[in-house]
Formats: sequence, C-alpha cells, structure tokens
Amino acid sequence: MPLHPLSFLQLLLAASFALAQNWSVNPFTPPAAPLAVRGPYLQTWLNQGVTNGSLNSGWQSYRDGSKLTWTGFLRVDGILFDWLGDRQNYTPAVQKDFTFTSTKTIITMACGSVDLTATFLSPIEPTDLVNQSIPLSYLGIEVASNDGNPHQVQLYTDIDGEWLAQPDQVVQWNTTVGDVVTHQFWLQNQTQFGEVNGRLRYGNIIYSTPQVTGLTYQIGSSGVVKPAFQAAGALNNSADPQFRAIQTNWPTLAFAHDLGTVLTTKTPPIVYAVGYVRDPLVQLWGLPNVNNLRGPYYLTRFNSISDMITAFLNDYTNALARATDFDGNLTSDAMAITSQDNDYANILALSVRQMFGNIELTSGWDGTTYVQTDIMAFLNDGVRCTHCSILFQMTDGCFQTIGKYLLEPILAYQVANPVQDGYAVHDIGDSYPNITGPSSVTYPVEASGDQLIMALSYTQKTSDNSLITKYQSLYDQFGTYLTQNGLYMASQDSSDSFAGALPNQTNLAVKSIVALKAASEIFLILGDTNKSQHYDSVATSFLAQWQNVALSLDKSHYTLSYRNDPSWGLLYNLYADRLLGFNMFPSSVYETQTKWYATKLGQYGIPLDSRSSDAKTDWQLWTAATVTDASLRTTMIGLVKKYVSSGINSGPFPDRYNSANGKMATFVDRTVAGGHFAVLVVPDVVQGSSNGSDGVNGTNGKGNGGVTTTVSPAITVALTLFVTLVLS
Ligand SMILES: *[C@@H]1O[C@H](CO)[C@@H](O)[C@H](O)[C@H]1NC(C)=O
Ligand SMILES: *[C@@H]1O[C@H](CO)[C@@H](O)[C@H](O)[C@H]1NC(C)=O
Ligand SMILES: *[C@@H]1O[C@H](CO)[C@@H](O)[C@H](O)[C@H]1NC(C)=O
Ligand SMILES: *[C@@H]1O[C@H](CO)[C@@H](O)[C@H](O)[C@H]1NC(C)=O
Ligand SMILES: *[C@@H]1O[C@H](CO)[C@@H](O)[C@H](O)[C@H]1NC(C)=O
Ligand SMILES: *[C@@H]1O[C@H](CO)[C@@H](O)[C@H](O)[C@H]1NC(C)=O
Ligand SMILES: *[C@@H]1O[C@H](CO)[C@@H](O)[C@H](O)[C@H]1NC(C)=O
Ligand SMILES: *[C@@H]1O[C@H](CO)[C@@H](O)[C@H](O)[C@H]1NC(C)=O
Ligand SMILES: *[C@@H]1O[C@H](CO)[C@@H](O)[C@H](O)[C@H]1NC(C)=O
Ligand SMILES: *[C@@H]1O[C@H](CO)[C@@H](O)[C@H](O)[C@H]1NC(C)=O
Ligand SMILES: *[C@@H]1O[C@H](CO)[C@@H](O)[C@H](O)[C@H]1NC(C)=O
Ligand SMILES: *[C@@H]1O[C@H](CO)[C@@H](O)[C@H](O)[C@H]1NC(C)=O
Repeated sequence: MPLHPLSFLQLLLAASFALAQNWSVNPFTPPAAPLAVRGPYLQTWLNQGVTNGSLNSGWQSYRDGSKLTWTGFLRVDGILFDWLGDRQNYTPAVQKDFTFTSTKTIITMACGSVDLTATFLSPIEPTDLVNQSIPLSYLGIEVASNDGNPHQVQLYTDIDGEWLAQPDQVVQWNTTVGDVVTHQFWLQNQTQFGEVNGRLRYGNIIYSTPQVTGLTYQIGSSGVVKPAFQAAGALNNSADPQFRAIQTNWPTLAFAHDLGTVLTTKTPPIVYAVGYVRDPLVQLWGLPNVNNLRGPYYLTRFNSISDMITAFLNDYTNALARATDFDGNLTSDAMAITSQDNDYANILALSVRQMFGNIELTSGWDGTTYVQTDIMAFLNDGVRCTHCSILFQMTDGCFQTIGKYLLEPILAYQVANPVQDGYAVHDIGDSYPNITGPSSVTYPVEASGDQLIMALSYTQKTSDNSLITKYQSLYDQFGTYLTQNGLYMASQDSSDSFAGALPNQTNLAVKSIVALKAASEIFLILGDTNKSQHYDSVATSFLAQWQNVALSLDKSHYTLSYRNDPSWGLLYNLYADRLLGFNMFPSSVYETQTKWYATKLGQYGIPLDSRSSDAKTDWQLWTAATVTDASLRTTMIGLVKKYVSSGINSGPFPDRYNSANGKMATFVDRTVAGGHFAVLVVPDVVQGSSNGSDGVNGTNGKGNGGVTTTVSPAITVALTLFVTLVLS
C-alpha cells in the first residue's frame, strides 16, 4: 500500500489547530479563503493558515497580501459586536464555523446571543457568459437568536478607500438611491488603463444593497460613521462633502439595516454587492484589424453599469441556487474519480474562484457600440506570469468558448507581428490592462507546443474548426519551428523558469512530440493530408529518437535532460498525450515513470525534478493523471491536499512549495490552479496492458484519453483546454 496522506502527525496538527481556532471547519482551513474574488481587481481574501484567520482577527487581503478593510458590526440589544475585520475597540464576535465550497465561503459568528451567518458568494456561471463577466461578488447576511430569546438587532457594514489603495490620490464618492442604493468610490485624477502596484488608477469601487425597509446609509469619516451607528443603530443618509485622500480621516462607505426583533428563525438575507467596475476594460496595441478598445462584455446585455448592478442584486436567490447546484456537480464529479475520499473535490473547490477570478471577458468597441459577437478574454493574474497554464473543464458550451476567446488575442497578435524565428510568443504584454505586446519572456519550444496542443484540444472538444482554419498558417509555422528545434533544443527556459534553463529537456521534448502530432491532426481536419502526414512522420521519428536518449541506462526512469542519468523530473507533458487521446507514447513510458514516482514521495508531495525539493501543485496533478497505478494517483492527490490544508502557509492557493517541509514559495493566486482539473478531465488511469490505439486518429475528438473505457463524469464532457500564458 502506498503511504496514506493522513499521517499521525497531521491528525495531531489538525487537533491542535481545532483547539486554537475554536470553531468548526469544513472541509479544512485553506491558506486563504476567497471572500470576493471575481475579476483581476476584485481580489478580496481572508488569509488563514499561520494567522489563525477568523473573520475578525485580522483584515482582508488583496491578492498580494496588502490590506483591504471591510468592516461589519452587529448591534444586539444595544451592544456592538465586531464580526468582520479587526476593529479592536469593539467587542469581538466569536467565530463558530468556517465552510468553503467552490463558489462560497460561509462563516458563522456568534455576536452574544445572536448568530450571524455571512455567505460570501462569488458565482461561477457556466450557463451564462454575461453573468460570468460581471465583476461583482455577493455578501448575504442572515441572523438568528441563539439563546431562544428575542433580540433587537441592527446590522452594519462598510468598506473604505483601501479598496482603491492609492494613498497619494484624492478620492471622490457618491451614493445613488433607487431600487438599489449604491455607494461608489473613484480617484479624482484617473488614468485610463493605468495600474500601479497591481492596483488600478481608474474605475469605480461599488458597494451596493437593495432598498429595503430599515436601510440607512452614509459616507463619512470612519471615526464618525461607526460611533454614529454604535449610538443610534442607524445612519443618517448623508455624504461627507469633502473629497480627500483615503487615509485622511478614512472616508468610509457604510450601510446599516434595522432588522427589528430577531427570533430563533433565520432572518431573510440582507444582500450586498461589492465590486470594481470600469469601462473600457482594456486597450490593445499592435492589432490593426481588431477593435482595440474593449469594454465589459456584460454591457452587451445591460444599458449601463447601474442596470447591471440592479440585475445582479435582484438575481441573488437564483444565483445562490445555481451556485449550490454547481458546487454539488463539482463535488460529485470529483468524487466519481477519487471515491475513497473527497480530497480531490476539495482541492478543486478551492481552485475554481481563483482560476476564473483572473479572467476578464471583453467585447470590442466599433466606434458606436460594444459588439456582442466580438468577444475576447484576457488573463491577468497580477504578476508577470511565467507560464499561466490553465485548464478549463466545465459543463457546457459557454466555458468551452472562453478558451477560444482567450486564445484569439495572442493568435491575432502573432499574425500581425510575426516573430522572426517562427516560434510562439509567451504573452502579449505585462502591463495589463494596457496590452502593449509581448514581454521579454520567451519559452520558444514550450509556447509553440502549447499553442498547437491548445488549438487541437479546443477543436476536439467543441468540433468548432474556426480557430484552426483562421490561424492555420501560424500552426504550420509553430510545427516547422518544433520540427527544427523541438527534439534537441538549445538551452532555454521551460515553463518552470524558476528552476533554470537547460538544453535537451526530456519533458519539453514530450511536449514537442505531442504538439507535432497535434499539428498532424490539425492539418488532417483541415484536409491537408500532405502536411498532416509530414507532421505525423516527424512526430513518430522524434518519439523513436527520444526513447533512445531520454531513458536512463538502467531503464529505471526518464531523465531531466538527455543522457544525464542521475537526473529526473515529473514527465508532466505526457498529460497532453492523454488529453488529446493520442496515447502515442508506449505504455512502458507511463509504467516506468509510475514506478519511479512511487520512490520519490516527499512529506508533502513529489518534487518537480532532481534539482531541488521545489514542488508544483499543478504539475503534480497533471502527472497524477498519467500514472498507471490508481492508488499512487490517490496518494499524490492526498499529498497536495495535505500541503494545502497544513495550516502553515497563508495566501491564495500557493502553487509552488517545498515538498519536504510544505512551506510555500511566493507563487500565489495564479490561474495555474486550473491545472488542478487535470485528473477530472482525464479521469481514467492508464492501463499497462492497453493496446493504446483509441483516439489516435483524433478527428472525432471525443476521446477522454481513451486507453480504458472509464466514462468521464458529466462535468468533464465538454471542454478541456489548457492555455499557456495568454497574457500577463
Ligand atoms: C471558544 O468557543 C466557546 C463556545 O463558542 C466560547 O465560549 C469561548 O469563549 C471561545 N474561546 C475563545 C478563546 O475564543
Ligand atoms: C492563534 O490562536 C491562538 C489561540 O487562540 C492565539 O494564542 C494566537 O495568538 C493566535 N495567533 C495569531 C497569529 O492570531
Ligand atoms: C455617481 O458618480 C458616478 C460616476 O463616478 C456617476 O455615474 C453617477 O451618476 C453618480 N451618481 C450620482 C447620484 O450622482
Ligand atoms: C494625475 O495623474 C497623473 C498620472 O498619475 C499625474 O501625472 C498628474 O500629475 C496627476 N494630476 C493631478 C492634478 O494630480
Ligand atoms: C499604454 O501604452 C501605450 C503604448 O505603449 C503608451 O503610450 C501609454 O502611455 C500607455 N498607457 C498607460 C496608462 O500606461
Ligand atoms: C449626518 O451625520 C454627520 C456626521 O455626524 C453630520 O455631519 C451631518 O450633518 C449629518 N447629516 C444629516 C443630514 O443629518
Ligand atoms: C444570469 O443568468 C440567468 C440564467 O441565464 C438569468 O436568468 C439571470 O438574469 C442572469 N443574471 C444577470 C445578472 O444577468
Ligand atoms: C449540474 O449538473 C446538471 C446535470 O448534469 C446540469 O443539468 C446542471 O446544469 C448543472 N448545473 C450547473 C450550475 O452547472
Ligand atoms: C543534445 O543531445 C544530443 C543527443 O544526445 C547531443 O548530441 C547534443 O550534444 C546535446 N545538446 C546539448 C546542448 O547538450
Ligand atoms: C508535401 O509536403 C512536403 C513537405 O512538407 C513538400 O515538400 C511538398 O511540396 C508537398 N507536396 C504537395 C503536393 O503539397
Ligand atoms: C490488445 O491486442 C491484443 C492482440 O491484438 C488483443 O488480444 C487484446 O484483446 C487487446 N486488448 C485490448 C484491451 O484491446
Ligand atoms: C484510424 O485511421 C485508420 C486509417 O485511416 C483506420 O484504419 C482506423 O480504423 C482508424 N482508427 C480509429 C480508432 O478510428
């Protein structure tokens, strides 16, 4: 039996944490829990891990760990409790429960004799792309008496200028009162498409709630508004007239709700929307033939941002139901794969908001309007991404198409601006949302291979040939580049540039070989049999040569680089062979690696390669989808779960860490969390005895890896697409 991920030490740790935290946790305490995560600039997290992280023991964090202030009080029979944010001058509420799902973080706080349940809902909307494009998140509050007695209760929440975080700037604000009441903050001096330290220099922070009986609101100094609520349990519907810098008496956007007499039955939810809106969203440079000015896709349904906000708030009940449905689907699909436990389901639940939160959906401005059919998506995870591999798989057509929308800009860019050496660019800029063209990062073989693999994956899953038809000359160019450079490559970075450049990389050559086979399939679909046969023969010849130079002399493992026998690494690019249903690598390759990995298990996972104990969560899960032993796969998943639930790290799902001691590196909140879906997309374990023929022809594209007959769960049927750095 492979070692079980739940060690005695971990049980001990879990027990001691449960004591320190003093609240129930379901399913585990992550390094950070998403509170409002719905767009590259709506990134509000509750760091947990090393800080214990109750809802009121610290402040919320932006993606980079910088502070955001979101405050919540509950006034119970005249006594004020602080339940959200760290307001030290007020009586702290006591956290009772913490739960996360794929769309929600739900926390219960005891405020004396009244329990408050806060549902932070950041929807994932596979059935409606417009919904998905809305950069707002919900907070729903329900309260109930916990001692059987009735209580007089008032609720208060606010946000302040930290949500704009430009201390050198004057901010302005207003309140719009209608069916919903909306507070907004914006910089007096805006710079369109400007970003400083990962924060925007334009656009509006929104804090909004439906107009209901008992609602009052106010904008004013933190030190005025909070005591006013404490004294009266209500605000005075005014706005401070003096615009100023965010730290000058902390201008604060506040709401209060008089909930009246609260009994033991939960009150209907008080709902807020919080978010960051801007229009336009991005500007593209170097693309003469597309609409360069691009705005929010949701404006193709709504006439204005304020109409969108109203529709969003009115949709809460249905959005909550859809989210619960989605949570359940994701869990049951993941459980169908690892039926022994729910580790995999929980890893995925923690990954989904992070993955989609970094993507923006835009439509192009034609001079008069935003064109509904002109959609592009952009990925910005807040750092210069070294290699943002994301892997989508979602239930239906909508999310399949996001893959195409993400690829379109980088493909169009490369048509308009050919790279001299013929390889694919790594990105189209590192100054989002001002998209100025490729950064200096180059991964020639990696990026060229990725483009071919992504294109075929998209085409297989959707049967939509438009992408490969439109960009066939690029795909031919990348195929030519890989033919010349893909097997014996000069020293260069792979996606794992932090580990250093190398020539003759075994794993990178796997990508080349699969990508050349993908080129062959692409041209077969396009009806160019000559090109198709050409790429097929290159792929076949490369594969034969690769087996000679990449296997260690004792045949125990594949090396990190050719002929360097002691070296080894995760051969994670084999995943593409499975994703595309080729199964062109002999089963002996899969079996050899499976046996080898079983000897390399660290306390918290398998290192990326022999150079260090660095490990990556995404590549381990890609690799888990390639091992021929189901119990090893379960162990690998369990170790990633052990790492992410260890309580010793803080920050949005850090994807790089030390496999020996479980300590994270600084790779947080990246879209690469999409790679965690690898096993869901290719769920069947490779069988050593298989003849490996299914799906080789590939044109029907329905193969799920094809070696065994395991049926994919419903959620995986549609799209698998892994996208390697579209933009950063
Ligand atoms: C732990 O929870 C109990 C019951 O909810 C409460 O009475 C106690 O004060 C809490 N202890 C701490 C240290 O928060
Ligand atoms: C964590 O919780 C323990 C026990 O409640 C407390 O003593 C400690 O100070 C907390 N640590 C932090 C960083 O809040
Ligand atoms: C508040 O300001 C925004 C622009 O930032 C504007 O669109 C809106 O109309 C203003 N509302 C009121 C009530 O002035
Ligand atoms: C407005 O911002 C720009 C760019 O940050 C800066 O150059 C300019 O001086 C600012 N203007 C004012 C009035 O603050
Ligand atoms: C956006 O990029 C263009 C082209 O490089 C540049 O002229 C412009 O100043 C940039 N805008 C911002 C806000 O940085
Ligand atoms: C509301 O309260 C603020 C702060 O106490 C005060 O300055 C303002 O005059 C009040 N406005 C109204 C309309 O009562
Ligand atoms: C979200 O999608 C559902 C289903 O298409 C729709 O009923 C609802 O109005 C949408 N919400 C918004 C805010 O557009
Ligand atoms: C959940 O799965 C069911 C059955 O496959 C499907 O009809 C439904 O649309 C899914 N819901 C969501 C939100 O994905
Ligand atoms: C790459 O491997 C081939 C075959 O083993 C070898 O001839 C060549 O010298 C290697 N290239 C580098 C840069 O090491
Ligand atoms: C077939 O492909 C080869 C190699 O790419 C090329 O040299 C040849 O001209 C092609 N023949 C036709 C008929 O297109
Ligand atoms: C593999 O091929 C052999 C010989 O052609 C055949 O007997 C066997 O049934 C095949 N196995 C599978 C799983 O298709
Ligand atoms: C693949 O293509 C070959 C030649 O066209 C054909 O004989 C074979 O049946 C195909 N296999 C599958 C699985 O479609």
